[in-house]
Amino acid sequence: MPRTNPQKVSMIILSALILLIGCNTTEPVVKPVSIEDKSVESIVEMMTLAEKVGQMTQVDRRYLDDLDDISKYHLGSLLSGGGSTPDVNDPAVWADMVDEYQSIAKKSRLGIPLIYGIDAVHGHNNVIGATIVPHNIGLGATRNEDLVRQLGWLTAREVRATGINWTFAPCVANSRDERWGRAYESFGEDPALISAMGKAQVEGFQGADLSDPEAIAACTKHYIGDGAPTWSTGLGGMIDRGDAQLDESRLRALHLAPYIAAIEAGTATIMASYNSWNGEALHGHKYLLTDVLKGELGFEGFIVSDWAAIDSLAPDYKGSIIQSINAGLDMIMVPGQIPKSHSYKEFISLLTAAVNEGSIPMSRIDDAVTRILRIKEQMGLLNADYANDRSLLPTVGSEEHRAIARQAVAESIVMLENENNTLPLSKNATKIVLAGRGADNVGMQCGGWTISWQGGHGAITDGTSILQAVESAVSEATEVILSEDGSNSQGADAVIVVVGEDPYAEMHGDRRDLSLSQEDLAVINAVKQSGSPMILVLLSGRPMIITDILDSSDAFLAAWLPGTEGAGVADVLFGDHAPSGKLSVTWPTSMDQIPINDRDTNYNPLFPFGYGLSY
Ligand code: GLC
Repeated sequence: MPRTNPQKVSMIILSALILLIGCNTTEPVVKPVSIEDKSVESIVEMMTLAEKVGQMTQVDRRYLDDLDDISKYHLGSLLSGGGSTPDVNDPAVWADMVDEYQSIAKKSRLGIPLIYGIDAVHGHNNVIGATIVPHNIGLGATRNEDLVRQLGWLTAREVRATGINWTFAPCVANSRDERWGRAYESFGEDPALISAMGKAQVEGFQGADLSDPEAIAACTKHYIGDGAPTWSTGLGGMIDRGDAQLDESRLRALHLAPYIAAIEAGTATIMASYNSWNGEALHGHKYLLTDVLKGELGFEGFIVSDWAAIDSLAPDYKGSIIQSINAGLDMIMVPGQIPKSHSYKEFISLLTAAVNEGSIPMSRIDDAVTRILRIKEQMGLLNADYANDRSLLPTVGSEEHRAIARQAVAESIVMLENENNTLPLSKNATKIVLAGRGADNVGMQCGGWTISWQGGHGAITDGTSILQAVESAVSEATEVILSEDGSNSQGADAVIVVVGEDPYAEMHGDRRDLSLSQEDLAVINAVKQSGSPMILVLLSGRPMIITDILDSSDAFLAAWLPGTEGAGVADVLFGDHAPSGKLSVTWPTSMDQIPINDRDTNYNPLFPFGYGLSY
């Protein structure tokens, strides 16, 4: 009897033990169930409460304790909040990151892929190298729906290139008070204009078929009345997230039309608003969320909350969850940013308890999950072979996309003054000076929601500054000088002074005073002293107080926040595009006129809604 090799025996026993232990892990062995070709209703029927609650939970990727939580908690969605970017901010790295998340999501029992949301609100603006298009206040000035639809399409391609399939846009706020830090996210102050532009953007994002590899789901926001609050009703006595104090007929007349248009366009999702209406928080407002939006308007997609926006609805978090879900919210953005918010594990546990105790009826849960899965089905996410399409990566920041964005910049510019036909400038001028801190500053051109939440000055991403655009536009013989403080402007054929606002987002942009900074005023004064013709280009998210400045300038262009394609500004300066922009908001003479809007009684602004000169 040959001696058995004791070592071999122990190896066999060891491997058997490992196998046995492997089978007896505490985790139940997940036996995958195919949902291919199953109806949404039948999928909902087979789902456990844990799976349903998971689908209703959205977490910022930064705050996942463990990537495996994506499948362990059956998460329905992840998001990248402003600035929530991979360590290397490169389109291919984004795509790898999202693909990894999706591969983990598919490990859950039902393997339902994630709907991944991001604020692509003026291009794919979190991603370095992406095409950054004008913010909405400038798009409103173009009055060009086809162009806005095209911008939505190019944004969707760049977003899908990175594996992401949902944008928290369009913002269809009706910005009634220029002091609001989100005025630039609005298409303007006229409901018909906002409706037309919002509808076009939804169509651009979603295309004809949500399952198209180039389509992304839209999220029309923030429902409802985000632009209505006045000063001191908002966060910390400012405006943002304030109380919309108006009767229902005014609320409907000024703020509801864009949602009717977006629903007609098939918006997949709608985001609830932080603000309250006559003292009642929108995130807990059953009448507006369920009776009006889902009932009266027939919205069949799903409603997502804003960032931790349910947290303070009730004295305790569980109460807030119960109130918001019963009011009609279907997915909760539980960023998971501890300690400012609550963890997704706490949310899941409390929501589960609320359902088990009967505080939230299962019918409400099933309605929410059905809405979410219905959208995922339309997006093709329930197909077994769903995968991100890497072939779109070369479109990110492509020449084709940048050319469309450049045209949008040119069409968004509103010419407010042109004394003695100072404009257009000659490309054969002898000496052109660029002055002001915005002259060579792509970050200032882009404004907030660019690479980071608040944006920033300087070369924050690939783009063309106004200085670079002027240098490219003029003849070899023309001397172009950058003089940020405006000195050395003597004897110039033209001095282009580029000033305006520092980048900001949300409540960080709430301002009591919209005057230009002392630094900008000093540059303007220096150039005026030089006696050379002055063209003022304003980079701002809203009208600023310029009444006295017009006495100094010979020509004045409102360029809003044009994004990366500064060449569009040069196109107007040198006459390749005759100014065609029309104000999408009223331009006040002074701060004490604000708020001032089209159709106000005794309406006497510096420039009225719709104003704009041309050559
Ligand atoms: C922000 C904004 C909202 C954005 C969301 C996710 O607070 O209010 O517009 O979509 O959080 O970043």
